[in-house]
Amino acid sequence: MIELKSVSKHYRLSGDVLVKAVDDLDLTIQDGEFAMIVGRSGSGKTTLLSLIGGLTRPTQGSVRVDGVDLWGLDDANQSRFRAEKIGFVFQIPSLLPTLTVLDNVKLPTMFARQHDRVGEKALGLLQMVGLSEKGHAYPSQLSVGQQKRVALARALVNGPEIVLADDSYGDPHSGTRQLCDEGANDGQRRPQRVSESVRL
Ligand SMILES: Nc1ncnc2c1ncn2[C@@H]1O[C@H](COP(=O)(O)OP(=O)(O)O)[C@@H](O)[C@H]1O
Ligand SMILES: [Mg+2]
Repeated sequence: MIELKSVSKHYRLSGDVLVKAVDDLDLTIQDGEFAMIVGRSGSGKTTLLSLIGGLTRPTQGSVRVDGVDLWGLDDANQSRFRAEKIGFVFQIPSLLPTLTVLDNVKLPTMFARQHDRVGEKALGLLQMVGLSEKGHAYPSQLSVGQQKRVALARALVNGPEIVLADDSYGDPHSGTRQLCDEGANDGQRRPQRVSESVRL
């Protein structure tokens, strides 16, 4: 379960300008729930996803994932918790240019405890997103749509229970929608919880 209580993220810009990207938000997402966050550009969707995923520290309030306060953990445990529980699909694929596609997909396993059959899993995920023949290519040799699908495979490699996908479900190239819709019959593959941010 994801639980946000009175969560705010305010940015103070130069001068006295205060941007309330997220303001005093209570939000609960149950296990197995598929939640979509919809709002216009600048309304705080990306900020909210990064708060849920522990990438951004709230200026106020608490964020708990399965009862764990992410900001109560030390750095090492926070990184591991994130790597094992949460898969991120960022709005921009942000693959590492010097690693092959396969190594990009494998990368998050370095931060998790499970290291079994990593190559096999990564290949399986590349196959799932239709890119099994691109494992040895470099990101620059792929189209942006293909890079997005690699980013989805990367988000799933640790078998996360939560997938946070930013501006992704509505993007036909990302593969996220296919995963959510078709994966409904495949308990193995389907992440329990998907949070999503949709651009308007
Ligand atoms: N690092 C930052 N510093 C200052 N303001 C920020 C920062 N990140 C986001 N914002 C501001 O917070 C608001 C919400 O941004 P964001 O969460 O990216 O919105 P969305 O994803 O819905 O388009 C915007 O006004 C944006 O300018
Ligand atoms: Mg955004």
